[in-house]
Amino acid sequence: MHLEKTSFCKVNLLLNILGKRPDGFHELETIMQPIAIYDSLRLERAAMGIRLTCSNPALPVDSGNLVYRAAEVFLKAAGIPEGVVLHLEKKIPLAAGVGGGSGNAAAALLGLNELFGHPLGEQELSSMAANLGSDVPFFLQEKPALATGRGENVRPLSAFKALEGKAILLVHPGFGVSTPWAYQNLGRFPEVLNGQPGRAQRLLELLQVPDASAAAAQFYNSLEFPVLEKYPILGLYQEFLKAEGALGTLMSGSGSTTFAIVQDTRNGEQLRERFLGRFGATNWTAVVELRG
Ligand code: C5P
Repeated sequence: MHLEKTSFCKVNLLLNILGKRPDGFHELETIMQPIAIYDSLRLERAAMGIRLTCSNPALPVDSGNLVYRAAEVFLKAAGIPEGVVLHLEKKIPLAAGVGGGSGNAAAALLGLNELFGHPLGEQELSSMAANLGSDVPFFLQEKPALATGRGENVRPLSAFKALEGKAILLVHPGFGVSTPWAYQNLGRFPEVLNGQPGRAQRLLELLQVPDASAAAAQFYNSLEFPVLEKYPILGLYQEFLKAEGALGTLMSGSGSTTFAIVQDTRNGEQLRERFLGRFGATNWTAVVELRG
């Protein structure tokens, strides 16, 4: 018996860091928007052990891969003596700030639970997800969400009116950014490291109104401070996208993916062409319609 699961990705419309915690993680408030670009995961029951293969040779296929770790903790917690064979087909770029690996881990947990007859409940899956990574619980559901704590407290929200019918252009420069590096280097920007709560509430109010530009004016990501300083090209991307008519731009997560909100997919395709003409075709790009 086998099963196919897809896993989507996300952008952060807001990532406001509120300070460093005693456990080394950072307290934050973030607004996450699901994006319809998918990896897929094939799962099949096996007599014993965990075997993972992946379409992208740059990814480890042992416990260095979140999918493998998800399978390990799931089988142990559910007390399943059998094993599983997994194949991960990657489309989402790596170390890109769009949660590809976290989404894969969530798909693995949901898929394994289905494959073995639902031995675990929602609560157990949620806490297992949070142990795998701060963003993993968000990917157990499919809605836009407000996440707090270190990112693991997820409040699902209805679709944002401001984004209804709009499209998003994602651009990735071909290099990734290390998430721990980005967080560690926030220390050089003390006011940004200790941000004030409330930005999320203000942006959520604007996202309920059908005016994308007004909402986009409040997009904010604390991690842009260290990341754009180290990689100024990412700041130039945003300047260019805005000058060429984007309604709003921001870096997602710890980068390096940068996104632009545009009127519709036709606008997105035109902006993509101009972006590639300016910055070169080695960039990874995608245009996706937003369901709001
Ligand atoms: O939770 P996750 O494994 O995705 O986090 C990766 C790294 O990002 C952590 O090891 C930590 O350095 C940093 N991080 C953080 N505060 C958060 C989330 C992540 O410091 N809220």
